[in-house]
Amino acid sequence: MLYDALPTSAASKTSSLRRHKRRYAYLCVFATLVVVGFLSFAVRTEHVQSKLAEIQLQLCTPALTAVVPEEQTPRMYLRVGPLGGEGMGSVLQHFKQSIVLSQVLDSSLHFGWNEVWDHRYSQSDIYNANAESQTLNVTKACRMQDFIPHEDRDAVVRGWCAGEDSAIARLDEARTRMADCTGILDTEVDELMQDLNGCIMPWVRSRLIPPPSSSSPSAAHPLPYSSDPSRRLSVGIHIRWGDTAPPPGTDISTHDFYGSMNFPDIARVLTDLRAFSSNPLEITIAMEEADRAVIALLNLEAEEYTLLDSPQTQALDDLRVLSRSDVLLLGESSYGVLTHLLAPPGLTIVKGGGLGKFRNTSGFGRHVVYLDDYKAEDIELLLIPL
Ligand SMILES: *[C@@H]1O[C@H](CO)[C@@H](O)[C@H](O)[C@H]1NC(C)=O
Ligand SMILES: *[C@@H]1O[C@H](CO)[C@@H](O)[C@H](O)[C@H]1NC(C)=O
Repeated sequence: MLYDALPTSAASKTSSLRRHKRRYAYLCVFATLVVVGFLSFAVRTEHVQSKLAEIQLQLCTPALTAVVPEEQTPRMYLRVGPLGGEGMGSVLQHFKQSIVLSQVLDSSLHFGWNEVWDHRYSQSDIYNANAESQTLNVTKACRMQDFIPHEDRDAVVRGWCAGEDSAIARLDEARTRMADCTGILDTEVDELMQDLNGCIMPWVRSRLIPPPSSSSPSAAHPLPYSSDPSRRLSVGIHIRWGDTAPPPGTDISTHDFYGSMNFPDIARVLTDLRAFSSNPLEITIAMEEADRAVIALLNLEAEEYTLLDSPQTQALDDLRVLSRSDVLLLGESSYGVLTHLLAPPGLTIVKGGGLGKFRNTSGFGRHVVYLDDYKAEDIELLLIPL
């Protein structure tokens, strides 16, 4: 199964074109080696042999020149402004334009500001960890804002993500003008984009999902539930800390949350999931500074759930564990969206949706269903990964 390609994204089209070119190059070199080898064995005059070598070079040159740049590390796209002190999910809302621009410009996004704020982990370190470029070549470092000015950025990036011709043309022009830039500096610091997560989903996955390795197989994604419906179904619930600290006198058990699913709705979906699955559920609850009295409102047996509330320094680990759930029950918090963006094939059920944070984020084998449209039958989507 292929989870790596969003069929609609322009970026995936470019990379499949590159793959074709690379395949052509290998095929070309191989085929001409066979032919040249055979002929030079048969034809022993030097003149004919050197002609054959020339033919091989001419035939394969376009393909080889298309291949070589791809093997090199892409130039660095350095976003120089501070990432700020927000949580892991919220911070992503401040550099989506840089993600899109760096990709369009065949460069590798890197964050230069390494200050560790009161959340006690470095956002830059987390997002830089899998970056391809680790050094900036300053020979001809260009400034992004000289090619796409601040005031045009939002519309150009949105347009590109929606596949609008004018935005694509504008960025094609910037790419041509920036072709000889050895590095790109982006000084933007006041971006806020709540939506557009569908457009940046492949990038976020490439940076934050740990590659599977033999030393830590648990880091890789679990197999989809559809491949083994006899196993226990995992369910992840994010309870946003801010939601459970409303003014005194509020009844949390029935309170309407902003960033989490309301408790009566969680209970309803859990009932449906228990009816669907032949085994007990494996529930994971992520709640910062967890309040057991709040969790008790969900009426779960102690052995039925695991609580994630690690110290801040392990925030990324908690995020990854929650994201591995077959089913996620979320509100429209940025942290919740981020767990969904990293998740394996499965089903995400979302309360709300008005902010557009989950728009166009069905993909990589995962379905998004809004609670307003939810019916118990939707759980069967788990058996049909996208
Ligand atoms: C930086 O870029 C220039 C121009 O392309 C190139 O000649 C030089 O080798 C590069 N330096 C490094 C360290 O890659
Ligand atoms: C996102 O979804 C909207 C409709 O919900 C659609 O108009 C838009 O083209 C989609 N964008 C992408 C990049 O798929």
